[in-house]
Amino acid sequence: MYRKAFIDVYLKHGFSFDEARSEIDFALDTLFNYGYKDFMLGKSLEQWQTAKLNKVIEERVLTHRPIQQIIGQAFFYGRKFFVDKYTLIPRPETEILVKEVLNISQNIFNPKILDIGTGSGCIPVTLLLENSNIIADAIDISTEAVETAKKNALFHNIQNNLNIYKSDLFENVTLKYNIIVSNPPYIPLKDKDTLQIEVRDFDPPNALYTKDENGIEYYEKIIKQSDKFLLPNGFLAFEIGQNQAEIVSILLKEYNFTIKNIVQDMNNIARVIIAQKR
Ligand SMILES: C[S@@+](CC[C@H](N)C(=O)[O-])C[C@H]1O[C@@H](n2cnc3c(N)ncnc32)[C@H](O)[C@@H]1O
Repeated sequence: MYRKAFIDVYLKHGFSFDEARSEIDFALDTLFNYGYKDFMLGKSLEQWQTAKLNKVIEERVLTHRPIQQIIGQAFFYGRKFFVDKYTLIPRPETEILVKEVLNISQNIFNPKILDIGTGSGCIPVTLLLENSNIIADAIDISTEAVETAKKNALFHNIQNNLNIYKSDLFENVTLKYNIIVSNPPYIPLKDKDTLQIEVRDFDPPNALYTKDENGIEYYEKIIKQSDKFLLPNGFLAFEIGQNQAEIVSILLKEYNFTIKNIVQDMNNIARVIIAQKR
């Protein structure tokens, strides 16, 4: 019954039923470890729990702050990650990038991987949890994101295998890698007003925007400098934005990479590009 009352609050503020249901289930799970089964069994919430959930939902519907940011947790690849206002909320599309990097890693002995722009650390933490042969480093320009990524590494108990540090792209990077992975900022600043409020007003701006027209500023910088940081036959693995596959492919070929794979997301948008150095 109470679940319906919470759903009604969402509906009253113009959210869809599906959004309401999935967010309430997410909140019940992350806040109280309370699953759908508990609801079906008629387990009720205690007064303090109802009050807490009310507060969270009120902030969500009135401000449009994403529920993951309000609660401070998000799911990625089926696991919990801490998030905050300094880290992008991990997206399902990025799981495709992780899957592709895991595929390549299978054929490399003790693969060394660098994640550029790690945010919450969701990419390298997941890679290490899925393949214990991987050795990974992760960098971010944001001091706060580096701290959150370290917290996630500790939470998932892989802190000894993952070196996370602050760097403006390759500025402080000294080693060479088999794979450089990145989900960099790729939205041209001029497109800011076309974004959902949840993204535009709450994701950290330095996780989203580029200064150039096409959103390829970071791909270009990484591709141009990658030679120095890739081992022979090394790979670049990028998440890309809508309509960027062609232009990023051209750039990669220009710098002697062979395109190995372009993978579409659930909306048939080319979302991940994998290239290998010739
Ligand atoms: C789109 S977010 C991706 C975060 C995370 N990897 C994910 O997939 O959820 C881009 C990240 O790049 C970082 N970033 C932006 N400019 C950077 C730079 N010059 N050097 C390193 N990291 C940068 C941002 O702080 C942000 O964490």
